[in-house]
Amino acid sequence: MAEAVITPLPIAERSPQDRLGRRLRDLRISVMDRCNFRCPYCMPRETYGDHYRFLSSTERLDFEEITRLARLFVALGTRKLRLTGGEPLLRTGIADLVGELSTIEGLEDLALTTNGILLADQAVRLKANGLKRVTVSLDSLDPATFKSLSGGFDGVERVLEGIAAAREAGLGPVKVNTVVQRGVNEDSILPLVEHFRGTGVTVRFIEYMDVGTCNRWDASRVMPSAAIKQLLEASWPLEAVDPTYPGEVAERYRFVDGAGEVGFISSVSQPFCGACNRARLSSAGVLYTCLFAGTGRDLRGPLRAGEDDGALLERIRSAWTEREDRYSELRAIGRHQRAEERVEMFYIGG
Ligand code: GTP
Ligand code: 5AD
Ligand code: SF4
Ligand code: SF4
Repeated sequence: MAEAVITPLPIAERSPQDRLGRRLRDLRISVMDRCNFRCPYCMPRETYGDHYRFLSSTERLDFEEITRLARLFVALGTRKLRLTGGEPLLRTGIADLVGELSTIEGLEDLALTTNGILLADQAVRLKANGLKRVTVSLDSLDPATFKSLSGGFDGVERVLEGIAAAREAGLGPVKVNTVVQRGVNEDSILPLVEHFRGTGVTVRFIEYMDVGTCNRWDASRVMPSAAIKQLLEASWPLEAVDPTYPGEVAERYRFVDGAGEVGFISSVSQPFCGACNRARLSSAGVLYTCLFAGTGRDLRGPLRAGEDDGALLERIRSAWTEREDRYSELRAIGRHQRAEERVEMFYIGG
């Protein structure tokens, strides 16, 4: 197979702009479509039960293919890679993949999003192989709420051990992502903040989104970030902090008393498509230019057919330059596409 050396592009060429002037900076790679949870808002058990056919291992991109594509994305201006799933820590040898990716010249950030269940076992190895940081999804510290939101699993302690192991291994700043659903886990907001304040772990509250086709999303279940912020400020005054990088998804706030930070991801109440520099690669090697996309572009077929780097680079570049996605902004004005046309979140990563 042609494995040409990729010549770095001249600066002006590095990062193509899409039709709305946004540059490619961030690639999220789903390395595993399976998950060891069945969160009702992502992989409800009724649909993803024992008989659901996930990808076979030959349908998933292998590590060499992922690394080769990642290099091409970096040649086109990508500076941050995030490994996602499904559950990325279910992918056998994931630390080896991290090791490969961490050698890509020009990459500035290499992160991983996990549900945390397998993190305690893998944190040290991931760090040793070059992972910079992890983000852990955790919707509640209450065992009963956790169980219903993970689709029937007990695991709060395990996830907390995973977070502690990640911190000890130096995979920080560790962030916790909490999807808030009104009437479901809004009671978990204050305990989560209380638990993590002062520990260096940043909790980020995510507005419940209408991703995928099966989460029976309903606007009444969205708790707007402004309401969460108000709830927190009644106990702990907050002040805004500048974004860490342009186009950061979370709005950052620090506790005035110095006990750390919280974040708000407000894709429903305050869409951030205008600065969206993220591409997504599914475990089957399909490139999507929006979390809510209905279709993507297959890269696995051409890759396996022996296409050379130049031609693959051109495919990625044209997918980006033709991009005009702004789903969350369109939703806000009532012009979004039908639910049945959206790819599932576990398939392309969050
Ligand atoms: P940092 O690099 O730590 O800033 O994190 P990140 O912005 O890469 O965020 P992360 O993967 O933790 O994303 C958090 C959540 O924000 C995701 O799980 C999604 O729910 C949501 N999110 C992230 N990117 C997008 C996006 O492009 N569009 C929308 N609508 N939501 C997004
Ligand atoms: N709305 C917001 N976030 C979601 N996630 C999954 N489904 C949704 C949704 N409907 C989040 C998970 C995890 C990340 C991978 O995506 O909680 O933090
Ligand atoms: Fe798994 Fe994350 Fe989806 Fe839950 S939200 S089923 S942990 S991929
Ligand atoms: Fe980017 Fe699509 Fe999310 Fe908008 S809705 S921020 S375009 S991924």
